[in-house]
Amino acid sequence: MLILNSNVDYRHLLDPIDAENLGLDAASSVERHLQHRGHHAETPLVGLPALAAATGVAAIHVKDEGQRLQLGSFKALGGAYAVIRLVLEEAEARLGHPVDMAELQSAEVRTIARTMTFACATDGNHGRSVAQGAQLVGAGATIFVHAGVSDERVAAIARFGATITRVVGNYDHSVREAARVAGEQGWTIVSDTSWPGYERIPGLVMQGYTALVREALRQMPEPPTHVFIQSGVGGIAAAVAGHLAIALGDKRPIFTVVDPARAACIFETARAGHPVTVPHGEPTVMAMLECYEPSPLAWRILSRVADAFMTIDEGDAIAVMGTLARPLDGDPAVLAGESGGVGLAGFLRAVADRDLSAALSIGPDSRIFVVNTEGATDPEKYQEIVGLSPDAVMSGGKA
Ligand SMILES: Cc1ncc(COP(=O)(O)O)c(C=O)c1O
Repeated sequence: MLILNSNVDYRHLLDPIDAENLGLDAASSVERHLQHRGHHAETPLVGLPALAAATGVAAIHVKDEGQRLQLGSFKALGGAYAVIRLVLEEAEARLGHPVDMAELQSAEVRTIARTMTFACATDGNHGRSVAQGAQLVGAGATIFVHAGVSDERVAAIARFGATITRVVGNYDHSVREAARVAGEQGWTIVSDTSWPGYERIPGLVMQGYTALVREALRQMPEPPTHVFIQSGVGGIAAAVAGHLAIALGDKRPIFTVVDPARAACIFETARAGHPVTVPHGEPTVMAMLECYEPSPLAWRILSRVADAFMTIDEGDAIAVMGTLARPLDGDPAVLAGESGGVGLAGFLRAVADRDLSAALSIGPDSRIFVVNTEGATDPEKYQEIVGLSPDAVMSGGKA
């Protein structure tokens, strides 16, 4: 299903506050901060020429976030960045002078960081990022996880020294519980979703994601004509769409947001024209996208700069993992977790449907850009779905 955004007003793009938050200067400062993060390397941009030929488009490029900062997903860019920025701001306030990123590990700043605790709710990936950021600066972290978060994902967060709190219910319940406990304890909540009166920190998290767009624009021979990005609460889609609109202006690509049909909060929000909560049904295999309430901040941006909203089904998400694991001749394999390939699945669904292709103006000159937002962050689940271990995929099915 596809909805075209009738709100898009090309003359009046973003609110000034969002334009600044996702703009070129902000993205440069995110890239500068990355120089001080361990294991930083630009993630690869993978071309899939055989798949492009088979689907009748000029190019398909996948920004592969599977190895980002050794955390397994693009989320590594957001939560940890927000934690670091908040520690630097606190240090500036207490010390009374500007504090540069290069001073993050100074005794003065670490003493201040030790007095701070960061908390968040997570499906897995965001919590890992917040926990890593807190460990890097020497602060405390308490991460709230709902019943559906696998033990493997919890262990991957706990590895960074965070305290884990299990919450009854789903992701949206864990968001509320994290905010409640953090309020009582005087902790700083670093959420990847926003709510009325709480936008600045989710805005920083989204600002962190802009680094992947900067890298991709440098890596691509030409800017894309079409972008398909998956959404949970809408943060990554809004960050990518917002930054592309700022960076490319009139030449910005046609931007489609892709939701799981079973948790289509951004899609239904687009249909309604304002943020709506969708009913909980059966869980989706796209575990990281299982959000029933959109981020109002993300929606404010997407309502201005996204062109279309679509849903995909469970089978599409499963099939695309196999398509990326067992690529057409000549294309490299890409390790995509359950939520990683959803943008590509959206494109494959659209290109296979004459009406959808026409609505999105997909044709032989189209250059498609998608983000593999996660690698095999839950290796057991990956193997169960794909029938190959992550190692086997990366060694061409031989391991
Ligand atoms: C791998 C992966 N992809 C996509 C998303 C969706 O991001 P957002 O909730 O910002 O829309 C998430 C969110 O956790 C994720 O972990």
